[in-house]
Amino acid sequence: MQRIFSGIQPSGIPTLGNYLGAIRNWVALQQGHECLYCLVDLHAITTWQDPAALRAQTLTQTAILLASGIDPERHIVFNQSANSAHARLAWILNCVARIGWLNRMTQFKDKAGKDREGASAGLYVYPNLMAADIMAYHATRVPVGDDQKQHLELANDIAQKFNHDYGVDFFPAMEAVVPPAAARVMSLRDGTRKMSKSDPSDQSRINLTDDADAIALKIRRAKTDPEPLPTDPADLEARPEARNLVTILAALSDRTPAEVLAEHGGSGFGPFKDALTQQLQQSLAPITAETRRLLADPGYLQGVLRRGAGRAQAISEPIVREAERIVGF
Ligand code: ADP
Ligand code: NA
Repeated sequence: MQRIFSGIQPSGIPTLGNYLGAIRNWVALQQGHECLYCLVDLHAITTWQDPAALRAQTLTQTAILLASGIDPERHIVFNQSANSAHARLAWILNCVARIGWLNRMTQFKDKAGKDREGASAGLYVYPNLMAADIMAYHATRVPVGDDQKQHLELANDIAQKFNHDYGVDFFPAMEAVVPPAAARVMSLRDGTRKMSKSDPSDQSRINLTDDADAIALKIRRAKTDPEPLPTDPADLEARPEARNLVTILAALSDRTPAEVLAEHGGSGFGPFKDALTQQLQQSLAPITAETRRLLADPGYLQGVLRRGAGRAQAISEPIVREAERIVGF
């Protein structure tokens, strides 16, 4: 059975983008794989996190993963800092990866913004830690959104260089698992930027904890254009906001954009937004309710994370110990 590793940063409340781009696929991948799903708190602190908020969000995200259908008995859910193997291997990989390789990473440029000199050193070496996350388990399949594909290529370069430099065949190649209908969800305020839990505007995203009223309000205010919806999906290309809303409705109702437009093409955004609101409310209500129920019992969630960390360590310890032996520790 192939081993899967994937992570999400506990740096905010997960959004509809995280759900359609990651969490929903994680749920599906449980069938036929051995899965490790990690709340990557080491990654989260590469940008400033309020300590109390980080701790609370780690539990909220754990609840959301479980509420979405991740089974913590059959698979492993844990937070990254609870297994020191990640940091230990990341240090070794910091010494394998080349500065020139990191300089090519586009996400660093996006996330550091204009003040590159003021970004943390952690943000710069983030891709090395991501490589360590996967390699510490000899995971071979990695579900990634297209914002992360470049990092996975880097991880493969690092694994190859480690094997080559030390004359071993130790770290296996890692393969991206790109979900069949990988939905890239964009901001509700600007169809050219991705929906993100770190966007300062709460109106730009649907949070997985939003109730029915919040969903209705955000969709009512979502940016659109003055034209009616097209009937041909090709006509969405030049209309990022319309395309985003159609993509969301299609993904949530397991239809193609063409099927959604067969129903809504030619109509204005009013009735379409009503249908989208209803679908969102219907799809998210069970997750929101179950999240709330789970959060009422933090002891249970902490137990899930503790047991998950123990099982993760049992897999990573021999691998990382062997990597340390190979480099001469
Ligand atoms: P964020 O950018 O919201 O902080 P993370 O970096 O924690 O999200 O990413 C967690 C997972 O969610 C990754 O697999 C990423 O590809 C996916 N993801 C994040 N935002 C989106 C989006 N807007 N659309 C689709 N997938 C997304
Ligand atoms: Na991201």
